[in-house]
Amino acid sequence: MAKDFSTMEDSNRSSNPSIHEVSEPARRTLLRGGLSAALGSLLAPLAGVSALSACASAPGPAGSSSPATSGPLLGFSSVPVSTADAVSVPPGYSVQVIAPWGDPAGLSGENAAFKWDASNSAAEQETQIGMHHDGIHYYAQNGSQSGLLVMNHEYTDDGLLHTDGMQTWNAAKVRKAQAAMGVSVLEVSQQAGRWQVVRPSPWARRITGNTPMALGGPAAGHPLMRTAADPAGRRVLGTLNNCGSGRTPWGTYLTCEENFMMYFRGPAQPSPHETRWGLRPGEPSGYRWAEFDERFDATKHPNEPNRFGWVVEIDPFNPSSTPVKRTAMGRAAHEGATIATTRDGRAVAYMGEDARFEYIYKFVSRDRIKPGGFAENAELLDHGTLYVARFERDGRGRWLPLVHGNGFLVAANGFADQGEVLIKARQASDALGGTPMDRPEWIDIDPQGWVYCTLTNNSSREAANQFSTDAANPRANNTMGHIIRWKEDGDFDGVAFQWNHFVLAGDPKQARAEAQGNVKGDAFACPDGLWTDARGLLWIQCDMSTANMGRGELANLGNNAMLAADPRTGEIRRFMVGPSGCEITGATATPDGRTMFINIQHPGESPSERSDPGDPRRVSNWPDFRPDGRPRSATVVIRKDDGGVIGT
Ligand code: FEO
Ligand code: CA
Ligand code: CA
Ligand code: CA
Repeated sequence: MAKDFSTMEDSNRSSNPSIHEVSEPARRTLLRGGLSAALGSLLAPLAGVSALSACASAPGPAGSSSPATSGPLLGFSSVPVSTADAVSVPPGYSVQVIAPWGDPAGLSGENAAFKWDASNSAAEQETQIGMHHDGIHYYAQNGSQSGLLVMNHEYTDDGLLHTDGMQTWNAAKVRKAQAAMGVSVLEVSQQAGRWQVVRPSPWARRITGNTPMALGGPAAGHPLMRTAADPAGRRVLGTLNNCGSGRTPWGTYLTCEENFMMYFRGPAQPSPHETRWGLRPGEPSGYRWAEFDERFDATKHPNEPNRFGWVVEIDPFNPSSTPVKRTAMGRAAHEGATIATTRDGRAVAYMGEDARFEYIYKFVSRDRIKPGGFAENAELLDHGTLYVARFERDGRGRWLPLVHGNGFLVAANGFADQGEVLIKARQASDALGGTPMDRPEWIDIDPQGWVYCTLTNNSSREAANQFSTDAANPRANNTMGHIIRWKEDGDFDGVAFQWNHFVLAGDPKQARAEAQGNVKGDAFACPDGLWTDARGLLWIQCDMSTANMGRGELANLGNNAMLAADPRTGEIRRFMVGPSGCEITGATATPDGRTMFINIQHPGESPSERSDPGDPRRVSNWPDFRPDGRPRSATVVIRKDDGGVIGT
């Protein structure tokens, strides 16, 4: 999400080392600590392979064997920049809107219809599709004809969610906001290319900010996870700020908790731990949950925030299953979790933390994936090693293990055990010398085994006057963002890698050199969503904030767009432009590649990110265009008119 409500985006004001500070004390501690793997990678001969030649010639690590296509990947005509309140796609493509916020989810029993004045109750919202669609995945049931569409609902615009916005405030409104986020599991099916949500469906489910969930992994039961309501520290109510997502090879869905701290009321003098995680004194900006839901008052329940910021595993094929927060994967303002598989069958999760000067992580499972589904792999993500990325200036990089006992990560420094290392993953990464990044968002992997991460923007690297530019984050005022990529030495569990920049986003028409980018093809800014399709096309989704959209250096770029890149050539072409004030996020497709599902989040968002329900100057009424209605996040179904594969 964009910045104004998110103090979380900028909590790294600790002594976090820049890549240039090679003599920084924390790093010396690390090296003295005898991390043999890290040292081994330092001593290993540098691969010294340039990006594109490696891309063309080197075989990818295991698990990256999507069918590489030999012909041109980009087979569509570029869509022009647009400021229209509409979705535009290339000639020969069509768009259908499904699953908007507030439509019935298809649960058994009564599902309330959406009321155009947003007067649905909290209980009704619990039966309806959530707000602010984000990460999404299609799970085939009958191939490309029907399946489950599982999607995140990141946060709420309370100006739109309630009839009178936030003019009045009460417990029912808090409950409705909690019901409008989380996850929807929807059954969808097509007839002759027209898709619909199946209602009712035995798989349909809403998971919300109040759904009971379990904690798994080393931090489960930890003293820092215990609360008055949960003295054992093993059971949490709900998941919040569900941003990016992932899917596992064993068929589960990973929903990732991003800017959870914005809901918590903080003490007058937050502890260093609370400060590092963005808890601020007093009322959080924008959200007023603590006034009516005491567990969001961290002055009374100081451990409740520790129970958020996790990757949550959901079995979409079992509506009565309990979601599990996987603490072994580390705590962060998680954007997403992308799973790769090593040659010997272990799971590797790549994860970005979307906040200024935060980190890129990977988790390597201890055990191999077992044949079967969730039941056979119920604890796979509870055991393994979490690493933070360090990008060196010579094009090499290392994964630093966040393992208790290694170097600085001992009790004397505030890390009593592995659970505390994971709960305080930011502090652990500070101490080990991870590279503070320009807001890492989604991650995906191309058929050659390159792992890509969007870095959406960071205009504070210069202003913060604490983090200088570095090789991986080379722009002092990075208004446009960039995409970095790396290739592991050996397999996905490698502890060292080579890296380079896939693209520095930008607009060649801008005067400032840092804003121009090196884009080969269509201009764009603020990459966020990222997805590699079965052909190896890299889809890039943009999230210019509405405070900046159409202004300043973003003036020529219109509404947020989705582009496609050929990772072999670097060519980038605009495929879709969204309606006014939206961001485009989340991408998935049917196995045949002929239907794509994309989420349109917060159409009509105001620069304040909080709508005034009475303001007639609303910039969007997409997708319903009713004078008495409200803009609604929704999923768009993209099909080629000739029924062909998307992008060809
Ligand atoms: Fe929720 Fe970083 O976008
Ligand atoms: Ca946004
Ligand atoms: Ca974003
Ligand atoms: Ca995002």
